[in-house]
Amino acid sequence: MVKVVVCGAAGGIGQPLSLLLKQSEHITHLALYDVVNAPGVAADLSHINTRSTVTGYGKEAIDEALVGAHTVVIPAGVPRKPGMTRDDLFKINAGIIRDLSEGIARNCPTAFVLVISNPVNSTVPIVAEVLKKHGAFDPRRVFGISTLDVVRSSRFVYELDNSINPKNTRVTVIGGHSGITIVPVLSQIPGQKFTKDQLDLLTHRIQYGGDEVVKAKDGAGSATLSMAFAGARFTQAILGATVAGKTGLVESTYVNLHADEEGTAAFRAKTQLEYFAQDVEFGREGVSKIRPLPELSAYEQTLLEAAVPELKVNITKGTSFITDAPKI
Ligand code: LMR
Repeated sequence: MVKVVVCGAAGGIGQPLSLLLKQSEHITHLALYDVVNAPGVAADLSHINTRSTVTGYGKEAIDEALVGAHTVVIPAGVPRKPGMTRDDLFKINAGIIRDLSEGIARNCPTAFVLVISNPVNSTVPIVAEVLKKHGAFDPRRVFGISTLDVVRSSRFVYELDNSINPKNTRVTVIGGHSGITIVPVLSQIPGQKFTKDQLDLLTHRIQYGGDEVVKAKDGAGSATLSMAFAGARFTQAILGATVAGKTGLVESTYVNLHADEEGTAAFRAKTQLEYFAQDVEFGREGVSKIRPLPELSAYEQTLLEAAVPELKVNITKGTSFITDAPKI
């Protein structure tokens, strides 16, 4: 039995994400949770002729939705409007993520938790702190999905060089998932050399790709379809490693660096960061190895230096939302 729960399944990301996950051969039970409309989405998807069973759960049925989950994917929460940063979503989304994490601690404390809800740089630490409170935190099992930055990177590079296949062009993206914390390592793409102008253009588009969509949607939200694509790709990689035992699966993802104590010791000592997006190798237990930082060009080194202080603020904000919360 492999039960995967989507929290926020009736929303803009949740619906296409659930549709893509319905096609996964690794999933036997797809459980859709949302405050409204999840049973309807579940009924609709349940007619698709793949093996998994689909069930839907409303607001009061959070425990039933989560119990026994192997993996929980969380796109729940509100999206940005033009003029907002991802951090502006903290006020609303932090509480939503905290409550879902409490549900995970009660019902499926060993589940793999994959967080899409923004601001990811802060919501991942919230999940971790709630699980820690319940003695259930395993840093190898909690992930911030920053895959859309990777997907955008390969697409935008392709727009400059049509001779590559964007599907097979992997770009490592390190740091976090917002603005200047997104650091694409373009210098390491085999066979590619960019001028300074191209680097500026690519880097800006990758760092602010989310804003491009927010602006185009003009008040109707942020990326949903490309985010669902990225979320499904990441979920499939986790399931491939943890369910099917596939080796060699690697994605850039935002994780707690204690998932690989030895491999990240020097980086943690140097930056004082506890969370960071980097290429991660997956195994049966989730993170099997956090790869060392790739070689960075001087350009990328400057980007990284700008990202670190901002990341620290984002991480502290998420962590202290739980650790400094008044005890009732
Ligand atoms: C994105 O990268 O498109 C998402 O994180 C949504 C957003 O607010 O930008």
